[in-house]
Parts: sequence; C-alpha cells; structure tokens
Amino acid sequence: MLAQRLLAELASGAAVSGAALAERSGVTRAAIWKQVETLRARGLPIEARGPAGYRLPWPLQLLDGQAIRDGLPAAVRGRLGALEVHWELDSTSSELQRRGAAAADLSMLLAETQSAGRGRRGRPWLSPPGLNLYLSCLKRFEQGFAALSGLSLAVGVIVLRALESLGIEGAGLKWPNDVLSAQGKLAGVLVELSGEYQGPCAAVIGIGLNLRLTEALRAQAGQPACDLATLAGGTPPDRNLVAIRLIGALADGLDQFERDGFAGFGADFARHDLLRDRPLRLSGALGEFDATGAGVDARGALQVRLADGSLRSIDSADVTVRRA
Ligand code: BTN
Repeated sequence: MLAQRLLAELASGAAVSGAALAERSGVTRAAIWKQVETLRARGLPIEARGPAGYRLPWPLQLLDGQAIRDGLPAAVRGRLGALEVHWELDSTSSELQRRGAAAADLSMLLAETQSAGRGRRGRPWLSPPGLNLYLSCLKRFEQGFAALSGLSLAVGVIVLRALESLGIEGAGLKWPNDVLSAQGKLAGVLVELSGEYQGPCAAVIGIGLNLRLTEALRAQAGQPACDLATLAGGTPPDRNLVAIRLIGALADGLDQFERDGFAGFGADFARHDLLRDRPLRLSGALGEFDATGAGVDARGALQVRLADGSLRSIDSADVTVRRA
C-alpha cells in the first residue's frame, strides 16, 4: 500500500524530499527508501536528486475509477458489469477467471500493476505500475465457440479504434492480434475462452497497452516494443482517458461482434493488416515454412501464398516478417 501512496506523491513529476515523504506517510525515511527501491525494481525510473529528494522524469496519472466511470458515455456505463480499478493483481485476466459465474457480462478489471501478468504462449507480460494499461474484460456469448472465430482479431481492431479516437496514428495489426508500430509492439491481446462448445460460453479478453516504456523496460521486453508516448510525439495521452476510450470501444465493439461476428471487422482489419504482401516465416503445427501474407478469411484465419502460388489457411502459428 505504501508503494501506491509513494507513487501518488511522485506523480506530478516534482521532486519530493525523503523527509517530507516520511512525515506525510508516518514512516521512517528508511521505509520510504525501501519503497523507492521496490518501485524501481518494478520498472519506475525514480531519480534521487540529493536534498531535493526523489522525482520521476515526467508526470504520470494514476488510474482513477471514478474519473473513468464519469468519463464513459452513459449508454456504455449502463451496459457494464463491474468496473474495478485495483492497485495490484497477479493478473487482471486470472482474477476475472477466478470469479467465474459470479462475474457479470461486460465486467472490466484494471490494475495499476500485475505481479504475474500473462502474455500469449505462456510468456510473461511486464506490468510496471503507473506507466501502461492492464485491462481485462469478460464477455458472455449465447453462441458456442464456433461463432467466436475471429474474436481475437476483432479485439485488435477494437484497440485500434480506441487509439484512433485519441488521435493516435501509426499503429497496425499483425495477425492474429498484435498491435504494432514501425518501432515495435504497442499492445498485446490475450483471449481465453471457457464454457460449452455449443454455447453458452465466455471470453476473458486481456489487453496490455504500452503508454510509456523506459529503456530498461524495452530491453526486458524480449522483442521490439513501442509506446503511445512515442507515437504521440513525446507525451502519452492521459491514462484515464485512454482507459475510457478502450472500455468504450470494447463495449461497442463486442456488441457489434455478438451481432455480426468477424464480418463487421474484416474491412477494418484489412485496412490495418501489416502482414499483407509481406514475406513471412511461419512456425507451428505444420513445421516451419516461408510464404507471403495474403490477408485473412471470413473466420479470421491467416491466408498465405506459398512459393508455388497456392493459398494456405493458417489457424494458429508464430509469424515473423522476413527481411526482404
Ligand atoms: C501478448 O502476449 O501479446 C498478450 C499480452 C496480454 C497482456 C494483458 S495485460 C492485461 C491482461 N492480464 C494479463 O495477465 N494478461 C493480459
């Protein structure tokens, strides 16, 4: 809890002395120093400025559940199940899954930080506090799994719609649902399904969106990574506003998906498809092979053209763009 309070004290970007922090929190300066180290270990580049004290290199906004609720259009607010902002969860998606049947449709969980954030294929998802967004949404469907094909691609489109509403340009989609810019990965989407094959079923949709990455976080990411600060010319949009736009886009987009399936998203996906006509290397159940991106089909399967000119449909694979 002290770490959360300390981050709130430093959020303006102004320097605050260890003595003032200790006095305001009713703890020793050593306890403050320990929490500074904890936040640093989590990825926050807190600077020590001698007698002036501690400071962040830029201001940040902590998530504010009430501000997010107030900023949502009434029509969206009325459709949400839960809307919760936590300081720390192991993983917003794991938490929604643990709630099972108790979680209402269109429940949204956000956390300032995750201690065990999960990416696709069992990879960890770095989740420093205060910098990025970690959001999971539960969506229930009456239909079975077959009707949900293309859902994870549709979520990528939904993330881009949210970014477009913020005036952020320069991001595209790498099948199935990575949101990338020329500099690297901007957002990751993890869709986990549960329920009956014939329906009803539920999707826990986890989204990690980078607003501000430090050099150290980029190095730890294990792949090129990008943030909204870079795309917005240095300063990311307000974190609560990004959360509002993302939640709004999810509520509207998931309703659209429930009504029309992936058909309602195919044109938007094609407009932002970063793999189309690119030389690709694929690895998966069919082994490793090279091909050229040829869009996605009506179910959201990746289409690739092989060297002999034939088309192959891919449901699951790791895809990288080969250097030309
Ligand atoms: C990917 O590997 O590209 C998917 C990353 C998904 C990360 C998000 S952050 C919110 C939610 N909670 C998690 O533990 N994972 C997802």
